Amino acid sequence: MRKKIVAGNWKMNKTTGDAESLVVALKAELANFREADVVLCPPFTALATVSRLVQGTHMDLGAQNMHFEKSGAFTGEISAEMLRDLYCHYVILGHSERRQYFHEDDALVNRKVKAALAASLHPIVCVGETLAERDAGRVEDVVCGQVRGSLAGLSAKELLDTVVAYEPVWAIGTGRTATSAQAQEVHAMIRKTLAEMSDATVAQSVRIQYGGSVKPGNAKELFSMPDIDGGLIGGAALDAKSFIDIVRAAV
Ligand code: PGA
Repeated sequence: MRKKIVAGNWKMNKTTGDAESLVVALKAELANFREADVVLCPPFTALATVSRLVQGTHMDLGAQNMHFEKSGAFTGEISAEMLRDLYCHYVILGHSERRQYFHEDDALVNRKVKAALAASLHPIVCVGETLAERDAGRVEDVVCGQVRGSLAGLSAKELLDTVVAYEPVWAIGTGRTATSAQAQEVHAMIRKTLAEMSDATVAQSVRIQYGGSVKPGNAKELFSMPDIDGGLIGGAALDAKSFIDIVRAAV
C-alpha cells in the first residue's frame, strides 16, 4: 500500500511572518496527522522559520528548487546540503514554471534529482504536458519522455525515494483541473513507464501525485483514483483551511 502524500507548493508567496501564521494554523489541525505524509514547501527565505515550527510534528519540510553542484561560485543558488542543514526532507524539482521561465530541461532536472538523492533528499519530480501538446495527442510521448529523462540512471532504491508529480501545465493556477479519469489515465502511463525503467514492484511502490488546481471540492475524487497517491497543491496551499481540507481528503 502506498501512503498518500500531500505537499503544499507555496511558490513565491509568504514572508516569514505570513509563513509563521500559516504554519501555526496548520499545526493546530495537522501536528499529529499520520494518515498521509504532509509536506510544506515554502520559499527559501521562510525555510528556517517553517523548519523550526514543524519540529516535533508529523509535517515535513520541502524546498522548491536547488542547484546540482555541492558548493562553489553559483551566485544566487542553493545546494542540497544547505537544504539538509535546515532539516528539509523533500525538494520539488523540474516544476513546469522552472521548465518554462528558467529553461530547465530533463537533462538539468536529472542532474538535480541525482544531487538531491545523493544528499538523502526526496525529490518531487514534476512532469506534465501543455495544452497544445494535449491537443496534438502527444500526452504520453511528452509526459513519459519527461519521466525517462528526468529519472534516467536511477537505481531501484533511488526510484523508491522519489515522488513523481503529474501536473498538466494547462491545469496549473487556471482553475481548470484534469478530470479524475484524465489524471488517472496519465498516472497509469507514468507507472507503466517506471515499470519499464525498473520493474513492476518498484513501479507499484513509487508515489505519483497529481497537481493542477486541486481544491477541497475536487481532492477527494482525484485522490480516490487507483494510481493517484496524493497531490501537489499550489494556490489552495496558501490558505490553512483549504490545505487542511485537502489533506483530510487523502484519508
Ligand atoms: P495550483 O498549482 O494548485 O495553483 O494549480 C499547482 C502547482 O503548480 O504545483
